[in-house]
Amino acid sequence: MCGIVGYNGRAQAASILIDSLKRLEYRGYDSAGIAVFNEKTLEVFKEKGRIVDLEKTLPAVSGTIGIGHTRWATHGKPNKINAHPHTSGNIAVVHNGIIENYQELRDRLTASGYTFVSETDTEALAHLINHYYKDNLIDAVASALKDIRGSYAIAVLCGSELVAARKDSPLVAGIGDGGNFIASDIPAILKYTRRMIFLDDLEIASVTPDGISFYDVNKKPVEKTVKTIEWDMAAAEKSGYEHFMLKEIHEQPRSLHETLAGRIMELEGTINFEGLGLSESNISDISRICIIACGTSFNAGLLGKYLFEYLAKIHVDVEIASEFRYAHSAPGSLVIGISQSGETADTLAALRVAKSTGCRTLAIANIMGSTITRESDDVIYIRSGPEIGVAATKTFTSQLGVIYLLALYFGKIKWTINSDQMKRMLTAMKQLPSKITRILDNKEMIKKCAELIASSNDAYFVGRTFNYPIALEGALKLKEISYIHAEGYAAGELKHGPLALITKNTPVIAIATKGQTYDKMLNNIKEIKAREAHVIAIANENDSEIEKYVDDVIRIPSTEDILMPLLSTVVVQLLSYYVAKTRNCSIDQPRNLAKSVTVE
Ligand code: G6P
Repeated sequence: MCGIVGYNGRAQAASILIDSLKRLEYRGYDSAGIAVFNEKTLEVFKEKGRIVDLEKTLPAVSGTIGIGHTRWATHGKPNKINAHPHTSGNIAVVHNGIIENYQELRDRLTASGYTFVSETDTEALAHLINHYYKDNLIDAVASALKDIRGSYAIAVLCGSELVAARKDSPLVAGIGDGGNFIASDIPAILKYTRRMIFLDDLEIASVTPDGISFYDVNKKPVEKTVKTIEWDMAAAEKSGYEHFMLKEIHEQPRSLHETLAGRIMELEGTINFEGLGLSESNISDISRICIIACGTSFNAGLLGKYLFEYLAKIHVDVEIASEFRYAHSAPGSLVIGISQSGETADTLAALRVAKSTGCRTLAIANIMGSTITRESDDVIYIRSGPEIGVAATKTFTSQLGVIYLLALYFGKIKWTINSDQMKRMLTAMKQLPSKITRILDNKEMIKKCAELIASSNDAYFVGRTFNYPIALEGALKLKEISYIHAEGYAAGELKHGPLALITKNTPVIAIATKGQTYDKMLNNIKEIKAREAHVIAIANENDSEIEKYVDDVIRIPSTEDILMPLLSTVVVQLLSYYVAKTRNCSIDQPRNLAKSVTVE
């Protein structure tokens, strides 16, 4: 996944492709490549590293049609072979998204005589299109799309034909002067045109030098509307959102979908972690887990403790990495390191300490090929895509997605959950992305509450059990980006100290979704109200009781009780964002903080 560009026109394609790819550099990537048809043959150039590295190796390439890609690895290491475009005969493909049934396709195509050279899911797509190709690329792409499960935005080049298609991954076509474009993101082609057409799911575009035609998967022509993009470059990079953080919060339905893609078989009640080296018998033998992480990843780890203990009945310690490495050990534990970047110095050092004492290590990470993933015995990728805002948002919900799945997976193997519970949980998990969309579509109450918090000097986030880690994460988000002093507390702990600080000037955000400790939470809220604090509750949409005890209620869709924290997370992210915006803070780059902390 990352950036796609395509061009078919009268100008030389290579320089346009390189220039367009450079405009997507801000999104992050690990390799880049282009394919150009030079009127006789297909020429493909790719390189690990930066686009300038690719540029240095490029000979003078002549040809007026081509495709290009910046890759951010999800299947297979970041290297030249895995970089896109992938080819099969005369066909070249670039792809964003995840082909969920790629292993099945790979087996089928290998049996038909195709040879795979990369570790990617995309290569299966190239061979599949080749398999169906007779004399028309649209027909071949349409047939191939019927065989694939998963998400995709693709651009396919074959001779003088350029075809693109999408499902659950963005793709835009651009109408230029003397040539037409395809791109995953508006900024890639904004220099060349402002006249764009947005593809919808399961649509195919055929791009020629003179125009672009659109079809559905049954090759029936589709009428599309041309939109004129008024954004400047800075707005385009953020897809029109004011900040990367807001963009990334809104990307969560898609990023979580990608996290779960291909891993959930809800009808069978099974979970598939591709390439996980831990066998069922290894997992049966695990009696202790130690989770190590920093910052937001630590909060994800803390929810992991509740989940592993509840679902798989395994004892879990959660340690701040900078403490663990000097003061703790975890003999006999499976040690799980959680790190978005995979480069956090303390997490890396703590994992090395654990490994040196004989512990098996498992990394949960976002960046493929990062140091922590290379040094750990096993890795599960969260597949959130690049995150630019310093405050972690979509990577947190994707970490939670993986942790829920892992705890359920362990529970199934340890016979601590039955197959009905498993199916129910997996079905509910599949619905989470659309429930996040509902929260994102109803932000008025969140904005109203944010205005009240913005004028305070202190704020408290409280929750019990599964909601407690989200209280910590809410407080962390608020202090990081709005500079308001904020604390997260286990609500039962309030009366052991913090209650002394609660006054009418300290808003309290109470995460009070339905669950085992709901009634206890109502008691805690009454304690807080007795000190005259303004209480904002995050509650289930159908909770008619909570409003009797609090000042404001932010309602969220209901799901399985233990999944509610993932939905509450989106609320605390948005609350913090709007507070910081009201206070005019530097949201994407908060003072004194860095995205990746590679110093100790
Ligand atoms: C920094 C970032 C946080 C992140 C933490 C851990 O402090 O600003 O957003 O949670 O590092 O990073 P990691 O990459 O290990 O998850």
